Amino acid sequence: MTAAKGAERYLPENRSLRSLAAAAETCQGCALFENATQTVFGHGKAEAPIMLVGEQPGDQEDRAGLPFVGPAGRLLARALGDAGIDPATTYQTNAVKHFKFTRKGGARRIHQKPSRTEVVACRPWLLAEIEALRPQVIVCLGATAAQALLGASFRVTAQRGEPLRLPAAVDVRLESEPAVVATVHPSAVLRDRSDGHVEAYRAFVDDLCSAREAGMPSAS
Ligand code: URA
Ligand code: SF4
Repeated sequence: MTAAKGAERYLPENRSLRSLAAAAETCQGCALFENATQTVFGHGKAEAPIMLVGEQPGDQEDRAGLPFVGPAGRLLARALGDAGIDPATTYQTNAVKHFKFTRKGGARRIHQKPSRTEVVACRPWLLAEIEALRPQVIVCLGATAAQALLGASFRVTAQRGEPLRLPAAVDVRLESEPAVVATVHPSAVLRDRSDGHVEAYRAFVDDLCSAREAGMPSAS
């Protein structure tokens, strides 16, 4: 057997979100499935106009099998509300679908950043989710998501909040192009305990507002 690496060969023929989620449960496209509890696929309505892409599930997401149910998810939900976005109008997913961690002192599992190779291995799921969902706007939460879709040299700090398009190199078949807006990861806002915390939160909400506006059909 050819040692095809990555998730591609696990993709089902039927590309509905439901069928993708079922197929992803048995993905072994990279080594991350080995230590994680389960695949954490995207979650939300199939008609959601706004797609939110995080980095990877965290400890609580790994146990629950759902994205953004832990502390970062709670901050995200609050920021969405403050940006005038009903969380029910979002589909939430991650660039990488398995939790990557190291163990510290036995029980505690410490989040580890996924490698570029792991992000690339998992990307077929993300692209298939985009094709199935056909969102009006994709919000990249943090550098891992942004670089998965906008290229390895993309810098969130330089272009956060700007309405962008998917580069031609991203192979998705869509009738209408979604807007793409990159911002920081909600855990970065959560970790910011400096005097700038309020400002960091406000800037995050501002970027989500830009995403909401970018996703609205242009008034004519
Ligand atoms: N952080 C992420 O990037 N995704 C989650 O689902 C949870 C925390
Ligand atoms: Fe498959 Fe992605 Fe999990 Fe790797 S992280 S095993 S590519 S679902």
